[in-house]
Amino acid sequence: MKSLAVLRASQLVTLAGPKRPRVGAELSELSIIRHGGMLIRDGKIEAVGSSDEIEKKAGGAEVVDVQGKVVLPGFVDAHTHAVFAGDRLDDFERRTRGETYEQIAKAGGGIWSTVQKTRAASEDDLFEQTKRHAAWFVRCGTTTVEAKSGYGLTLEDELKMLRVLRRLKDQGPLQIAPTFLGAHAVPRNMSADEYVDLVINEMLPRVASEQLAEFCDVFCERGYFNVDQSRRILCAAKELGFKLRGHVDQLTNSGGASLMAELGAMTADHLEQTDAPGIAALRAARVQPVLLPGSVYGLGSLRYPRARQMIEAGLAVVLATDFNPGSSPTPSMPMILSLACTQMKMSPAEALTASTINAAYSLGRGDQIGSLETGKLANFAVFDCSDYRELACWFGIALTDAVYIMGSKVPRR
Ligand code: NIG
Ligand code: FE
Repeated sequence: MKSLAVLRASQLVTLAGPKRPRVGAELSELSIIRHGGMLIRDGKIEAVGSSDEIEKKAGGAEVVDVQGKVVLPGFVDAHTHAVFAGDRLDDFERRTRGETYEQIAKAGGGIWSTVQKTRAASEDDLFEQTKRHAAWFVRCGTTTVEAKSGYGLTLEDELKMLRVLRRLKDQGPLQIAPTFLGAHAVPRNMSADEYVDLVINEMLPRVASEQLAEFCDVFCERGYFNVDQSRRILCAAKELGFKLRGHVDQLTNSGGASLMAELGAMTADHLEQTDAPGIAALRAARVQPVLLPGSVYGLGSLRYPRARQMIEAGLAVVLATDFNPGSSPTPSMPMILSLACTQMKMSPAEALTASTINAAYSLGRGDQIGSLETGKLANFAVFDCSDYRELACWFGIALTDAVYIMGSKVPRR
């Protein structure tokens, strides 16, 4: 029985509140305890309160005196492509010359170039590269990530990516929610329809029988998978028991948001081009929007998703990094907070709710993580500042002081 007493937080930002995703004005309610503390036993939160109260209850617990720093729930990053080999530095440089994501993909860069590198990597090599990415997430204060396949595009290579995720999950400490994204791009040697058949008839049943993923995702976009093809894949996935997510309306408005609403997906992700009818459809079906401002910034685009309209419409907004080597090469949720506040006019409090408790609900884990409440996992981060708003304000600097997952401090690498 290991217990820990976290004492003297200037702000213990608990996010305590209703046991459901937060909407409207609730996004601004952080339930902050000033001069706060927290008692942890066996990896779970046993009590939350003022530092003085917790000190009295501490007994023989190991004391962690955070000396006036801010304590937050660990970030829950609900959209990442954490497994890949290599980098996309050539794409990056081409964009500095003004080429677009679509032009670069046509010229041999883009997702396809990462597919080639990922296929060429052995499972062990891919695991080592992914471990490096996992350490980056933790360094930024993230304790749980959703992570997708999608750079294999053959049965064996997709399974290889998902096995890497399983190994990472088993090894810890970063917590992983795995997603099958076989339909991320059409392989060069077949038509989109042929590949959709392969995903449905061979990949999905195998991923399901090996229990390698909880969610199924598709890239619904011009030049990738259209609405009908996306619907076919997601319907087949639903039949097999997968919960659904989708890359929709990123570069063009194809009605992807409405498709996710029709299918009762957990989330609709990106939504840069989604308009009022799409927002209304998401609201009616209670689909959570996952907004990815890192990819807008990374692509040098100016069209951010309409976060304010979504909040006003009552959507339970989520923010995530979309960490990947091409469009969004950042593992940093604090960077995403900065972008959400400066580019999408979310308040620091709204952005924080979207990155923790709402993200946890979008992964079906709202009862275990995303807030600092009795009974939940002791996943938290200590930041070297005295006001949570500093995290969104100072950008380009890692204020992370320490990260704990299930009550254990993650060693610095
Ligand atoms: O979410 N849009 C599709 N997938 C990723 C990009 C992946 C890549 O470029 O490698 C995204 O932006
Ligand atoms: Fe993505």
